[in-house]
Amino acid sequence: DWTMAEFRKTKLEEIRAQVGDGKVICGLSGGVDSAVAAVLIHEAVGDQLTCVYVDHGLMRLNETEQVVSLFRDHYNIPLVAVDAEETFLNGLAGVTDPEKKRKFIGGAFIDLFEAEAKKVGGADFLAQGTLYPDVIESVSFTGGPSVTIKSHHNVGGLPERMNMELVEPLRELFKDEVRDLGRELGLPEGFVGRHPFPGPGLAIRIPGEVTKERCDILRKADAIYLEEIRNAGLYDAIWQAFAVLLPVKTVGVMGDGRTYDSVCGLRAVTSTDGMTADVYPFDSSFLTRVATRIVNEVQGINRVVYDYTSKPPGTIEWE
Ligand code: XMP
Repeated sequence: DWTMAEFRKTKLEEIRAQVGDGKVICGLSGGVDSAVAAVLIHEAVGDQLTCVYVDHGLMRLNETEQVVSLFRDHYNIPLVAVDAEETFLNGLAGVTDPEKKRKFIGGAFIDLFEAEAKKVGGADFLAQGTLYPDVIESVSFTGGPSVTIKSHHNVGGLPERMNMELVEPLRELFKDEVRDLGRELGLPEGFVGRHPFPGPGLAIRIPGEVTKERCDILRKADAIYLEEIRNAGLYDAIWQAFAVLLPVKTVGVMGDGRTYDSVCGLRAVTSTDGMTADVYPFDSSFLTRVATRIVNEVQGINRVVYDYTSKPPGTIEWE
């Protein structure tokens, strides 16, 4: 793609001019945006870049392993991986308010990141995979002036605290453009084409209290849903799909026994930038298959519902 090849060249020059021989640190979230930013910056300044991956324990099934191996083995980019599951789950204990969850996760993430940055020996620059929609949506929302709908944990916060200059090479791009750039940089298709995943992870897909047990239940349901979506050849037609685990128990019947377990919600939307979204119209046979598998295979879930709300008025994530 000519445009992206040009963009890459221009950005490489810009990054080199900005960074000089300074040190850059980049937080990887596991998502496409921070990965593309990191690979681009690594191409520009090599091992002047160190990546830090804070595993908050709120990732999807096997996701951490995939990210770590992509960076270490495939790209040879220096990567510090921190296992902080306990810190996050302890901090989330008893927290049910969505904004409190987001604020805690964002804050703890910054603390851990900052500590790792210090261990690396200090850096002059902080790299972030901020996109154009992040820039505008965290400032205001079309529904009214300066209303914060959700506090995005990957935007803001870090810069002020860390007193570092920002390197944000993706600031002008929309999601699909970041994917094109990722392909241009040779990131594997399976990674580039991945659905977006929010910084606070599964915590905002578990309304109510987040526990390790509920994360594990959700990971299983979510993996089944995504596996069926891939098998049906629908993954790339959908912008984002995921399961949520509701803090509601309902009565069901399995064999000749009564069950009393949680409800799982399924979400799938089409979108171009996440700012508006339409519900993906699955065939009912597809939804029936997924619901049956989840109830049969995931202990703790006995009912599955499909979310038919577009954005607006719904948001994509449930919290
Ligand atoms: P909402 O729920 O606001 O989500 O309609 C729009 C898109 O943004 C993602 N999202 C986040 N991404 N940090 C992120 O990096 C966050 O805190 C965050 N919250 C929501 C969401 O997954 C969807 O793609």
